[in-house]
Amino acid sequence: MRFFVSAFFFLVLLTYTAAYDPLDPNGNVTIKWDIMSWTPDGYVAVVTLNNFQMYRHIMSPGWTLGWTWAKKEVIWSMVGAQATEQGDCSKFKGDIPHCCKKIPIVVDLLPGVPYNQQFTNCCKGGVVAAWGQDPTAAVSAFQLSVGLAGTSNKTVKLPKNFTLLGPGPGYTCGPAKVVPSTAFLTPDRRRKTQALMTWNVTCTYSQFLARKNPSCCVSFSSFYNDTITPCPFCACGCQNKNKCVKSDSKILQMKGINTPKKDNTPLLQCTHHMCPVRVHWHVKQNYKDYWRVKLAVTNFNYRMNYTLWSLVVQHPNLNNVTQVFSFDYKPLVPYESINDTGMFYGMKYYNDLLMEAGPFGNIQSEVLLQKDKNTFTFKQGWAFPRKVYFNGDECMLPPPDTYPHLPNSAPKSLLALSTLISSLIFLLISIW
Ligand SMILES: *[C@@H]1O[C@H](CO)[C@@H](O)[C@H](O)[C@H]1NC(C)=O
Ligand SMILES: *[C@@H]1O[C@H](CO)[C@@H](O)[C@H](O)[C@H]1NC(C)=O
Ligand SMILES: *[C@@H]1O[C@H](CO)[C@@H](O)[C@H](O)[C@H]1NC(C)=O
Ligand SMILES: *[C@@H]1O[C@H](CO)[C@@H](O)[C@H](O)[C@H]1NC(C)=O
Ligand SMILES: *[C@@H]1O[C@H](CO)[C@@H](O)[C@H](O)[C@H]1NC(C)=O
Ligand SMILES: *[C@@H]1O[C@H](CO)[C@@H](O)[C@H](O)[C@H]1NC(C)=O
Ligand SMILES: *[C@@H]1O[C@H](CO)[C@@H](O)[C@H](O)[C@H]1NC(C)=O
Ligand SMILES: *[C@@H]1O[C@H](CO)[C@@H](O)[C@H](O)[C@H]1NC(C)=O
Repeated sequence: MRFFVSAFFFLVLLTYTAAYDPLDPNGNVTIKWDIMSWTPDGYVAVVTLNNFQMYRHIMSPGWTLGWTWAKKEVIWSMVGAQATEQGDCSKFKGDIPHCCKKIPIVVDLLPGVPYNQQFTNCCKGGVVAAWGQDPTAAVSAFQLSVGLAGTSNKTVKLPKNFTLLGPGPGYTCGPAKVVPSTAFLTPDRRRKTQALMTWNVTCTYSQFLARKNPSCCVSFSSFYNDTITPCPFCACGCQNKNKCVKSDSKILQMKGINTPKKDNTPLLQCTHHMCPVRVHWHVKQNYKDYWRVKLAVTNFNYRMNYTLWSLVVQHPNLNNVTQVFSFDYKPLVPYESINDTGMFYGMKYYNDLLMEAGPFGNIQSEVLLQKDKNTFTFKQGWAFPRKVYFNGDECMLPPPDTYPHLPNSAPKSLLALSTLISSLIFLLISIW
């Protein structure tokens, strides 16, 4: 017993400190520098940021990358990104570098920049899709020309102390490591070239580092019990309770109220949970061989549109998803033997945007699951998810003793009747 208790606490500790994600054990963001050519005083490098996380994307306003130069390097020029500050280049005559800072801070360019400033996979405002959602969009890249640097693989010094905001804190980056040079294929695929030198930096995410409080919560309901189990009180912290806005407030008619702030401070609708996002799981219907769940995600932030949102759910029956309506679905199988986790995300151009709080600030779907006769039950909250993540951050679940109960002795006819009522309940919830 003692062993299990300590093993449990060890795992919890591991989850929170080492940025280890049991649902995505290999998830990371890799930053790769490929030196493409040496110059008289340095080199030209292509920097590629790959998001290898299955379900965590880098949302607007996008990534910010920083590092510390090992020597007195400067950035002569950049294509496809820019340093946010030039710094003190007063030593230079004639050609002035793009950035002379010891710790350059680099951001992506916005879509629609002039053609001569673009680079492959650049200019997306720093937004990078999750690997599981769209691997072709899970990459961002730019080119930079570095001066006052080494000019051979013996004299070049790797930059140190990489930092990544994605867009907020939460990522920790390891040291740069020299890796085998990247090979490139020419467009006709008949010739291979390779980088003169390559180094990688790996960054991992920890929600614990990102924020003190959760940023979403979960509520439950079912056809077999008319109790709605709400999100926990103050699930996302109630520090900002005095700044929230009632849903019927006149303020909401003011122009510009929805304009996002530079630092992304939310304007939340007043709720008892004070979360920007709520996920609702409704056990909707019971059939002989199947059961049906209705899922709804509601946005309570008046200053945020969630693009490329994703929802990750862990439930033992997700190994037998028969149909998902109006969302895309992909099983996440981190360990080959366990298939209890899946990722829901919006369909392109249909509902991949979760609109700001208000009448359109919600998205819904239904999931049809096939019962496994050996494990399926409505008892003891089995029908509710074990874990829920929105946009890669874990949502707070209600305490287990508040889950809707199966009535002690439920005749079959009552279950059928409740199914009817359940649709009503759901309607109420969507409004509430
Ligand atoms: C980063 O993620 C990739 C892809 O999942 C994986 O192959 C690689 O081993 C990871 N790197 C580290 C240092 O975990
Ligand atoms: C370096 O990063 C690239 C992705 O940018 C990845 O494909 C490669 O496997 C990484 N190499 C090592 C040794 O981690
Ligand atoms: C540096 O270049 C030499 C050849 O010029 C090569 O033999 C060596 O492996 C390279 N070292 C690294 C770390 O790339
Ligand atoms: C690394 O960078 C961060 C932020 O730029 C800075 O606060 C920190 O002092 C740096 N650490 C070292 C060892 O340079
Ligand atoms: C969200 O998107 C809609 C439609 O594109 C736009 O009208 C609205 O201003 C956006 N809201 C925010 C908070 O960005
Ligand atoms: C996992 O479950 C899904 C259905 O939800 C199924 O399509 C997929 O084949 C399963 N994968 C494995 C490896 O069992
Ligand atoms: C899905 O459920 C059916 C019926 O119980 C069962 O035979 C099958 O093995 C299940 N599939 C998986 C992947 O568990
Ligand atoms: C419904 O669930 C609640 C919360 O678990 C429980 O207190 C209540 O007794 C249940 N109602 C019935 C009719 O069983």
